[in-house]
Amino acid sequence: IRILFATSELYPLVKTGGLADVSASLPEALCRLEYDVHILLPGYPAAMEAARKGSALRKARIQVDDYSVSLWQTRPPGSAVTLWLVDCPALFDRPGNPYQNGRGEDWWDNAQRYELFCRVAAQIALGQAGIQWVPDIVHCNDWQTGLIPVFLEHHRSRPGTVFTVHNLAYQGLFPHEIFRALGLPDSLWNMHELEFHGQLSFIKGGLVFSDRITTVSPRYAREIQTPDYGYGLDGLLRHRRERLSGILNGIDTGVWNPEDDPYLEFHYGSGHLENKLLCKARLQDQLALKTGDAPLLGFIGRMVEQKGLDWLVAVMRPLLERGCQFALLGSGESRYEEPLKALANQWPDQVSLTLGYDEVLSHRITAGCDLFMMPSRFEPCGLNQMYSLRYGTLPIVHSIGGLRDTIFDPVDAGLDEANGFCFQEPTATSFLSAIERALGYRKNQKAWRRLQHNAMSGEYSWQLRAKSYGDLYQQILAERDDQQP
Ligand code: ADP
Ligand code: GLC
Repeated sequence: IRILFATSELYPLVKTGGLADVSASLPEALCRLEYDVHILLPGYPAAMEAARKGSALRKARIQVDDYSVSLWQTRPPGSAVTLWLVDCPALFDRPGNPYQNGRGEDWWDNAQRYELFCRVAAQIALGQAGIQWVPDIVHCNDWQTGLIPVFLEHHRSRPGTVFTVHNLAYQGLFPHEIFRALGLPDSLWNMHELEFHGQLSFIKGGLVFSDRITTVSPRYAREIQTPDYGYGLDGLLRHRRERLSGILNGIDTGVWNPEDDPYLEFHYGSGHLENKLLCKARLQDQLALKTGDAPLLGFIGRMVEQKGLDWLVAVMRPLLERGCQFALLGSGESRYEEPLKALANQWPDQVSLTLGYDEVLSHRITAGCDLFMMPSRFEPCGLNQMYSLRYGTLPIVHSIGGLRDTIFDPVDAGLDEANGFCFQEPTATSFLSAIERALGYRKNQKAWRRLQHNAMSGEYSWQLRAKSYGDLYQQILAERDDQQP
């Protein structure tokens, strides 16, 4: 089965969040299951640079509207999967973040950029790009790919389509003038198709027109059918619930492995945890925190509302007074960065704040901390809690979305099954009491070891989870066969 996997991010070439990690590791896992996967990615500078260094091959030249686009074939670094880059310098040859300029503003022409990306995907999918390889399934990811199922809709011999929602909060909304400027047919401008409260919604394209919708955890698939998490799309999602399912993300257990992580000086595993303490001491040293046995709590992530940073800021002071330490890494909105900066200035021995993106430090925090905090308001899946589990760093999470599907508290699961700590109420008080409970367990070395062992021996790889996508592809193809005369 041939899969065209369309994505706007790909680790290690271009990443703003977990979508990049998934776009690298899921196609790899599908390849191992003998699926013929081609990743389609916009030709951002870092990707084009890697392609030039590798032996990239021009597969096609495609004319889309006024743009002449080249399609380059290469492989992602260290991967066996085929990568196709949509090279259109006028739209994609820009520095920094794929979606925003250096001042943190969205690129003014994001709608045009991703509409072109979707048109190229559709041409390939319909065999109109002058390439022999035509997919059986197009797997779309998030709003940037939402128009692909729209462009394929009316073609009889089109491939099947899967649309995966990694985050429903980002919908690709644009004014009506942009809808007109893109030349989309007027018939699509209605609340059952692409219109969302007077705006063009890219994500609705995927939600309305794909054969199957998936989300990145089963729990999130249920949550987005409710007004609290549905962002106004819950009605549509309830309407399509027969076509909607959740498949939990896996992680790249090769990249995230405490036994041989190249970013760590000391390695360890479930049966030999002594070196984890050396990782902690080294991290404290590197971050200029006081070395010693104080509980060290980590956070890594985008500093945005989703991640519950206001609750984090609120719990830090009482915990600092009790001697806790914090290793924080991320960047985002100043309303979260500023209070964290103030705390780091006030408690330099106990708070380390690194603003920015740092791959190496993220591994060291994951390994060196005792506890990892994810107080997310909502979390479609979350990868950091699974990275932490692998490293025996027990997660403390708000029990929603993918966090609820992956983290089990001793209170509910018992010590034999638990792997972290959960809080239910969406409040800082509830978060704080979960942390206090965790600190209580930490005093009981036997119980703590048990939890660490449970965490580290869990199965987080893509192997089984990729198979669930495979089953879904097969179902779609079987259905489409039935519909042919
Ligand atoms: P989301 O996609 O919502 O941002 P995930 O937990 O799925 O959340 O994935 C986030 C990914 O980005 C993880 O791989 C995490 O380690 C990484 N990450 C986020 N912020 C940073 C940062 N400042 N430095 C290094 N890695 C980061
Ligand atoms: C999104 C979600 C995150 C998920 C990631 C990868 O960015 O916020 O929860 O893990 O996508 O699917």
